[in-house]
Formats: sequence, structure tokens, C-alpha cells
Amino acid sequence: MARAKKAIATAATDLSAPHTADALLSVRDLNVSFPTDDGLVTAVRNVSFDLRAGEALGIVGESGSGKSVSAMALMGLLPSTTRIAGSVMFDGKELIGMPDEDQRKIRGNGIAMIFQDPMTSLNPVHTVGKQLAEAYVAHNDVSKDAAREKVIETLKAVGIPQPDRRARQYPHEFSGGMRQRAMIAMAVINEPRLIIADEPTTALDVTVQAQILETLQALQENTDAAIMFITHDLGVVAAVTDRAQVMYAGTIVETGPVHEVLRTPRMPYTAGLIGSIPKTAGIGTRLTPIPGAPPSLINIAPGCTFAPRCYMAREVCNEAEPPLVDVNGPIHKSRCLFWEEVTRVDAVAAEIEEEAAAVEAQEAAAERDAFAASNEEVR
Ligand SMILES: Nc1ncnc2c1ncn2[C@@H]1O[C@H](COP(=O)(O)OP(=O)(O)O)[C@@H](O)[C@H]1O
Ligand code: SF4
Ligand SMILES: [Mg+2]
Repeated sequence: MARAKKAIATAATDLSAPHTADALLSVRDLNVSFPTDDGLVTAVRNVSFDLRAGEALGIVGESGSGKSVSAMALMGLLPSTTRIAGSVMFDGKELIGMPDEDQRKIRGNGIAMIFQDPMTSLNPVHTVGKQLAEAYVAHNDVSKDAAREKVIETLKAVGIPQPDRRARQYPHEFSGGMRQRAMIAMAVINEPRLIIADEPTTALDVTVQAQILETLQALQENTDAAIMFITHDLGVVAAVTDRAQVMYAGTIVETGPVHEVLRTPRMPYTAGLIGSIPKTAGIGTRLTPIPGAPPSLINIAPGCTFAPRCYMAREVCNEAEPPLVDVNGPIHKSRCLFWEEVTRVDAVAAEIEEEAAAVEAQEAAAERDAFAASNEEVR
């Protein structure tokens, strides 16, 4: 799936500016928390980023890091008790605090979301064609025939063979991969400027995943839409996006051009994610978790949230949350105080193995000595 990656402009990540004028989406200091019986859960903290038309951004992190909540905040899909602060400019309009009615309009044809489970957005009692047509006429004043034509064209564009026949079928008559394509068709039929795909391929087998990713890429290239691709899988991010944004405990801990982040990660957490991709792994291989668990999001302790799991942690890391600073130039940023010392975990793993082998050799030598000594005694 080779394709020319877009150049990433330096200004795209000038997060000190209130908003980047030519960004399609400009998020500043997004904070999201949920009042619960146990206390306030702070799911997203101080998230700022920009996304331009035609750009593909990969948001990556372990489960619970705030990826979906960030996306739902942009879509205006969080419960009404949710506390949301910050600013999200989309196509020149502020989304935070926007009246429901206007938000619904934007959800229809400005921003579209593709979810992990297609059955959450496909209605089992209507044919796929009928649902797609309804989504289209809700935002376009067109005849039935024109809507039908658009449905067939869209099914074809997402790689569904025999679109005419397929349009007359019900979701349960589709295979998993085809259902996912139908859902992508639903998301793109109104030609959204931004497509948010939240782990859209996780439940599919590797070959189908690759096909779906390719379909999304082709759609993006044809329409110049921006894509926000959410996944726990760095392999997927490397395959389909231009820029990677790594989240941990609700905040961005590293961001930069995807290949630079993979080659020279500047945050131990990212290095851990990379180190846990098996070398022979294909797209969609599950990560081996980094030892330890993410922190509680109620009363988040001061300091670096990754410190309890970090092999490089030291006293100063617990003092205050490190800022997101420029590393390797202004478009690659990290929240690690000691980013210059970060090595890829596979190098660290090799060191640990060497050390372990040395210790084992010492133990074997000691055992041999003890054995020889006991033989001496017997003699
Ligand atoms: N409605 C809610 N009420 C309380 N906590 C929530 C709610 N929705 C999400 N969370 C919590 O917010 C955190 C981030 O969740 P999420 O964004 O779904 O993570 P992920 O990165 O896996 O998509 C998790 O700890 C989750 O339990
Ligand atoms: S700031 Fe300290 S604890 Fe946090 S990632 Fe860097 S070295 Fe580890
Ligand atoms: Mg999620």
C-alpha cells in the first residue's frame, strides 16, 4: 500500500498559537472529565493538535488512554453530564458548546465517524441500500433515483462487488469485512471533510484489515478528506498515517511524523509500544503489553504519569507533569524530561538479555565451583 505521504508543515503543530488558521481541525487544551460515584474521572487532559485537509493522523495508545473520549468530544457524542473544556475549531466553527441541532448537521456531513462494531451503526431491519439512501437524503435535496445512484456509486467506491445486488441485502447477509465496508460507505456518502475511524479494523482478520485500510486511503486521496485514525496498533498507524500522536493517561505524550516517531521514539512509552511489536508481525498484530498498568484517572498524581512503569524514571520525574517539548526539530514533540536518552526498547531488550546471560553464566560457574568443592569434601 505504498503511497506518497503528505509533507507535514511545521506550522501544523505550532500549538502555542490560539488556532492554526489553515487547519481543518484545530484542537486547543481539550479537557474532558466525568463525574462518577468514585470521583471525577479525568479522561482527557490538555490535548492540543491540528489536522489539515488530506492529512492522516494516527492516534495510538493502550486501552483507556482517552482516544475514544477525545473523538466523542469532537463529535459531541458524550453524555450531558460530561465536563468539557477547551476549544475545537472545525472548518472555522467552534464545536465546544455548539447547539445540538448545529452539531447534528456537522455530524451528518462535516465529520463522520466509523466505529469498531458495524452493527452499532447499521440497522438490522433495513436493507443496506435503504439506510445509505436515508443518510444521503437527510442532507441533500435529491430525488429517489439520484439517491439510489449515489448509494450504488458509494458502495462501489468502498470496494463492495455487485453493489446493485448488495444494496438490496440486509446487514446480516454481509460478511464482517463487507459490513465494515458498508459502514464506511455510510460514513462517507455525504463526503465528510473529516473521517474519524475508531479502531475500525480490530475485529477483522489481517487480510481484510489491510483491504479496509487501503479502501480508506483511496477514499481519502479521492476526496482530500482528513482522517483521524484511532488504534492501539502502531503497525496500523505506520501503514496508513502521516503523523502519529501517542496518548497515555489522557494526554499526548509524543507526536511527530510517523516514521520519525518509529525510528527515533523520544518517549519511553512509545519505545515500549514499538518494542512490543513482534518483528515478524503484520498489520493488526496485538501488542504485548508494557509491564504494569496505566494510572487511575481519579486524582492523577503530580509528575510524569508514566513514571511508575518507566525504566528510566528518577526522582525529578515525580515533581510536575513534564511539558510537551520540541525534540529532533519542532514537529516532533515529547513529554519526557530525558528524551535524549530514550532508546528503542528492542535495543534495551538486547541489553537486558546480555545481562541475563552474564548472570546465568556466573550462576553456572558458581554451581560448578560448589560441586567441585563438595566433591573435594567427599574425597
Ligand atoms: N462515561 C464515562 N464515565 C466515566 N468514565 C469514562 C466514561 N467514558 C470513558 N471513561 C473513562 O475514560 C478513560 C478513557 O476512555 P477511552 O477514551 O474510551 O479510552 P481508549 O483510549 O481505549 O479509547 C477510561 O478510563 C474510561 O474508563
Ligand atoms: S519523564 Fe521520567 S518517568 Fe516520564 S517518561 Fe521520561 S524518564 Fe520516564
Ligand atoms: Mg477506544
